[in-house]
Amino acid sequence: METLNFITPTLAEDIATRFGTPAYVYDERSLRLAAEALLDFPNAYGLTARYAIKASPNAAILKLFDRLGLQFDASSGFECERAFRAGINPEKISLSSQEFPENFASLHKKGIHFNACSLLQIERFGQLFPGRELGLRFNPGLGSGSANRTNTGGPTASFGIWHEQSAEARGLAQKFDLTINLIHTHIGSGSDPAVWQRAADLSLDIVRQFPQARALNLGGGFKVGRMPDESTTDLSAIGQPVCEAFIRLFEETGRKIHLEVEPGTYLLANAGALLASVQDIVETGQKGYKFLKLDTGMNDILRPSLYGAQHPIIILPRRKTGQTGSYVVVGHCCETGDLLTPQPGQPELLASRELDEAAVGDLCVVEGTGAYCSSMSASNYNSFPQSPEVILQENGPPLLIRKRQTLDQMLDNEV
Ligand code: LLP
Repeated sequence: METLNFITPTLAEDIATRFGTPAYVYDERSLRLAAEALLDFPNAYGLTARYAIKASPNAAILKLFDRLGLQFDASSGFECERAFRAGINPEKISLSSQEFPENFASLHKKGIHFNACSLLQIERFGQLFPGRELGLRFNPGLGSGSANRTNTGGPTASFGIWHEQSAEARGLAQKFDLTINLIHTHIGSGSDPAVWQRAADLSLDIVRQFPQARALNLGGGFKVGRMPDESTTDLSAIGQPVCEAFIRLFEETGRKIHLEVEPGTYLLANAGALLASVQDIVETGQKGYKFLKLDTGMNDILRPSLYGAQHPIIILPRRKTGQTGSYVVVGHCCETGDLLTPQPGQPELLASRELDEAAVGDLCVVEGTGAYCSSMSASNYNSFPQSPEVILQENGPPLLIRKRQTLDQMLDNEV
């Protein structure tokens, strides 16, 4: 049975009364425990643990992770600037971006680290900053993700420099007198631990080809169990063999390579929940389904529609009947794809879930929504406003960290 992670029914009522629904809720204690576990990642010659900002970029979360000793992975120039505004020291930010930011020079002058993700990006960097240090993101030739769309390695993925182009990358570095100080790979989100380890070995092979590299960033992607039948990656189990491989490299070459990792999901997924309300229940006859409509949807949580991702859904019945019902849970957008219970990995197909019997007005918690929900949604679709974000403090009352958007704010840029 799907269960609540950190919200209790009483707390849910309290949050709904104070902030309304839908609302994203983060749990400070869970965030801290995840950060502490990550900082324990096995390593032979030092570790930098980064938070992938894209998972949820709210300043309160960035500040919390900063206080806990994490550094940051940014995926765009805008994420860098967002982190600056949250007070993050630029030197703690590493940028690996599909798009070379227009204002790159000013970002780099502030002190961010940069990993060029294509040959053209090396060229652009070299033209602006000849003679400097630079990281290179490679596609090591294999990838693995929870779904095709979260696999970022192998021939079907455009991320990073293809591993067979390392000689060209070296040539470009020479042309601009650049020192390649770090090699970076990230093979996907929700990756299979065995594939992740193989990718780590391939990444170390790339490090061998860059004698000046002092660090290897192995990205993130650690699989997290959201549903009761899914398991969470054991960081010490996947990290230990990689640590041994770093030691072997030292024994062969005398090079002590520093390790970086940069997950988002691992730090956040189960530390966040989306609190919603049941706003309607409709049926489609004997051969059909019973649909439970929430006051949230793909404008707050897109992962099920995009990937067929599974999130636990818990009804908090105000009037407990002791009965359950079989429901297809859908969002409030006028879109058949706004579906919270697709078949696993099949966003096109719907599935029913056995949930506590629900009535209109009941609260409902969608679990596992800390990562890539608030930050990655069909925001403002159907002109629904952005939902508020709340953090449950370890020492203090629930704190609003983002207000609900108003219609005026939504229309602000219309001219
Ligand atoms: N590093 C790089 C370069 C990345 O591109 C990503 C994710 C990460 C780190 C963090 O990966 P994580 O540990 O969160 O899996 N939106 C998807 C996943 C795609 C994220 C893309 N890059 C999701 O909802 O699962």
